Amino acid sequence: MRKIQEGIFWVGVNDWQLKDFHGLTVNGGSYNSYLILSDKNILIDTVYEKYAEDLLKNIEEIIPAKNLDYIFLLHSENDHSSSLPYILNYAEKAKILCTKKCAGFIKKLYQIPDERINLIKDNDVISLKNFSIKVYETPMVHWPDTTFAYIPEKNILFSTDFLGTQIPAEPLIIENVSTIIEESRDYYTFLMRAYWEQAVKGIDKVVDLSPEIVAPSHGPILKGNAVKEMISNYKRWSLNPETKKVVIAYVSMWKGTEKIAKLLSEGIKKENVEVKEIDLANFPFSEAISETLEAGAVLLGSPTFVKGYHPLMHAFLSFLEMIKPVCKMGMAFGTYGWAGIGVKALNEKMKEIGVKILCDPLLINMTPDENEEKAIIEKGREIAKIIKENY
Ligand code: FEO
Repeated sequence: MRKIQEGIFWVGVNDWQLKDFHGLTVNGGSYNSYLILSDKNILIDTVYEKYAEDLLKNIEEIIPAKNLDYIFLLHSENDHSSSLPYILNYAEKAKILCTKKCAGFIKKLYQIPDERINLIKDNDVISLKNFSIKVYETPMVHWPDTTFAYIPEKNILFSTDFLGTQIPAEPLIIENVSTIIEESRDYYTFLMRAYWEQAVKGIDKVVDLSPEIVAPSHGPILKGNAVKEMISNYKRWSLNPETKKVVIAYVSMWKGTEKIAKLLSEGIKKENVEVKEIDLANFPFSEAISETLEAGAVLLGSPTFVKGYHPLMHAFLSFLEMIKPVCKMGMAFGTYGWAGIGVKALNEKMKEIGVKILCDPLLINMTPDENEEKAIIEKGREIAKIIKENY
């Protein structure tokens, strides 16, 4: 339990052991919940049910839970709502404040009766004795029910998952984002990039409100310059994430495709362009995809596997498709034994999901020989030169 401002407390929970957040690879995480004290006491969001008792304990270090008047649910996903039934047992008079969309979800998830729900909608104002809370619905910034809550008198915005980072909220408040930016990028890519047009609307709303403090539902609270820095990064990741960088993501069965990957990398490095080699069998997918988000070019490698490309590449492509790589350039490469159909199929799939194909697929029988090695290094240089011209 920690104080953010007069009458506003963080009562959330850190999970230092968290490694996998429904597919996102993380190193610890947090579920932020906030307690607002006034003539009405309001809890903003709950935490994942595993930590319901910790949430109750944190609340009761400040006020008895029975004194809660409202639980304001900004978003109904389980990590923020699943302690609701537990807390409602102690907060006997509390009503849930949420949008109609959110109400539909929590009624199905937890069989919450209608009489415990007070519906709110966009532009509503919850008036308290000393300040007010404005409601902004921001559908599909992440989920259909995603809602922002803003206290103008304190210039603080509760932004739910938006602008959050799935890391422990420690330190609780930060004023620059340099130490968390990679984790923030991973979180944005995994959860919000698919809806980047809506993310832009979310950014516009935050810019319009110009809050001094942004209190998200995961990770540290952003203050001052950290708010501006995070917004600037969200704009970049949403509108033009590509930089002068190449990602080479590959699957290799007998090291032939891996050898091509390393030779391409060698050529790219000769032109002083940043390159990241990713062996998909030994690298977290969520991290691979967020590395790819910022790449100007993505070179994908797979050997021919049965009648196509390797299943791990299928999985990676489903992630790649999710982030809508409309401005990314690319090339397919790989080895084959007696039919090069896998790499050709990979090339077609890359086109289909929006990658701009730089050149014909690079197909090598079995493994590169000496002459082919030189040609592959040269191909890496050519690709690097194109990247340099474009970024
Ligand atoms: Fe952190 Fe969409 O839940």
